[in-house]
Amino acid sequence: MKKRIAIFASGSGSNAQKLMEHFKRSNEIEISLVLTNNADAYVLQRADNFEIPTHVFDKNEFYKTEEVIDLLKNLEIDFIVLAGFLWLIPKSLINAYPGRIVNIHPALLPKFGGKGMYGDHVHNAVMAAGEAEGGITIHYVDENYDEGEYIYQARYRIDKNDNLEMVKFKGQQLEHQHYPRVVETIVKKIKK
Ligand code: GAR
Repeated sequence: MKKRIAIFASGSGSNAQKLMEHFKRSNEIEISLVLTNNADAYVLQRADNFEIPTHVFDKNEFYKTEEVIDLLKNLEIDFIVLAGFLWLIPKSLINAYPGRIVNIHPALLPKFGGKGMYGDHVHNAVMAAGEAEGGITIHYVDENYDEGEYIYQARYRIDKNDNLEMVKFKGQQLEHQHYPRVVETIVKKIKK
């Protein structure tokens, strides 16, 4: 039986798209579910296009009940990938999937991480700091924002004429290039 991944995303889902494309023809791994806290998230449309089931939850369900965990267990999900998911993962979910939740962050952690540091906020902070390079970090998830063990980092150069769009583009290219590959390597090693 294939190993089953659930993706959590809050927005556009371009990384989710790359993951869905990457595993579409895999014999070993599949994206089995896409979850979001945002009923308007474009990632829901992307999941529909791949005929992948979706689930929308609210704060109460996520933090005050075990419904999301029950759903993941009922669907025999083996691994969780956060792809632009903006809420903190509750301890109960981390305990249910120990060492089996990863996140991607659009900066070279530990710089430019923590609460409120997501998407354009991160790129703006990187530029405001006058950094000569930016990057991405793929890491395991614990109960704190952006603090789990690092798995992979990649860097890009920031030229002095780069604007927000260019920096964002360079980061996104790296994310799309590496996230599916890194997830595949990890998921291949876990036991079903
Ligand atoms: C990605 O750049 C990801 O690194 C970032 O959100 C973006 C989602 O884009 N995540 C964080 O900032 C987490 N702190 P996408 O919806 O197009 O994949």
